[in-house]
Amino acid sequence: MNMSNPDNRRAIDKLNAVPRLSFGHYPTPVEELSRLRAELARELGGCPRIFLKRDDYTGPGFGGNKVRKLEYVLAAAIDAGVDVAITTGGVKSNHARVTAAMCAKVGLRCILVLNPAAVSCEGLDAASQYLDGLYGAEIVTVSHRDERAPKMEAVAARLRADGLNVSVIPLGASIPLGALGFVRAVAEVKSQIESMGLHIGHLFHCSSSGGTQAGIVAGAQIFDWSDVEIIGVSPDDASEAISAEVGHIISGIGELLEMPPAMLDQSVTVADQYVGRGYGIPSPEAQRATALLARTEGVILDPVYTSKAMAGLIDWIRSGKIPADANVLFWHTGGQLAHFYVPAKLSASE
Ligand SMILES: Cc1ncc(COP(=O)(O)O)c(C=O)c1O
Repeated sequence: MNMSNPDNRRAIDKLNAVPRLSFGHYPTPVEELSRLRAELARELGGCPRIFLKRDDYTGPGFGGNKVRKLEYVLAAAIDAGVDVAITTGGVKSNHARVTAAMCAKVGLRCILVLNPAAVSCEGLDAASQYLDGLYGAEIVTVSHRDERAPKMEAVAARLRADGLNVSVIPLGASIPLGALGFVRAVAEVKSQIESMGLHIGHLFHCSSSGGTQAGIVAGAQIFDWSDVEIIGVSPDDASEAISAEVGHIISGIGELLEMPPAMLDQSVTVADQYVGRGYGIPSPEAQRATALLARTEGVILDPVYTSKAMAGLIDWIRSGKIPADANVLFWHTGGQLAHFYVPAKLSASE
């Protein structure tokens, strides 16, 4: 931890003073994937050591990266005396489900504006949406992702007109306040890595609405972890769009932590070569990565996000972009419930 730079020290004090719900189970483990490494080494003649940060184990709502963000965002909502939280995503949205679970835990009314998945199964509902209902969330459906934000605002306006105090949480809780969860997570992982005596050259994770990457990139600067290359892998949008959003959130983090303007470098790396045919549509490389991790390590990736990010990491290893004598960290951000469906009748009966 860089306690020598006074701006960083002040930012860390500010971070520690921001209210946060303490719902996740931390530190999430860091595990070495030695059988995956051995398998790739057999094929390639050598392979970096690969470590996995298990944020699929964070806890509430079946875990994943949203827990860290929502601990900040919901704490602020509660402090503001909010009656209703509204958020959005697809029917398999990990963010929506974790919001529903955490709202249940604090007794906050939750409304989810959900759009259909890219791939649907006749007669079946996404397990995630089924759980949203069990957690007590009210579900409003829209037919396309472009309709989500206006629908959230329309629902919020109606509730406000009834005198309710409403918090509209943007997609993925990817606002500077939510991203603080990942600034904090950097301190956690850095201390784990140091105690394992490791030097990590590359950190891979999936990056979509940008909050996770913004938090990690800002956190790496604030906690003086400068010699790691952070690569966000897109499951959907073009690199330019995600990079711009991540940069924007990083600048907001600087403001929240009262850092001098432009102190945080906003340049980031987002790889968009692993999207395949689009958001929520599994690519052959991602499916192979999922099968490989399951078979060699007993680790399940999700079909929408982490499998594409892992396909990216494996491609970087195969193409020699990561030297065989290096160490790489892959951040598992959860999402495995997207593999599962329930009979539509079961959802309807709840
Ligand atoms: C499982 C999973 N991994 C990664 C991401 C990407 O995180 P972010 O939206 O913060 O970029 C998401 C959410 O979009 C997710 O649900």
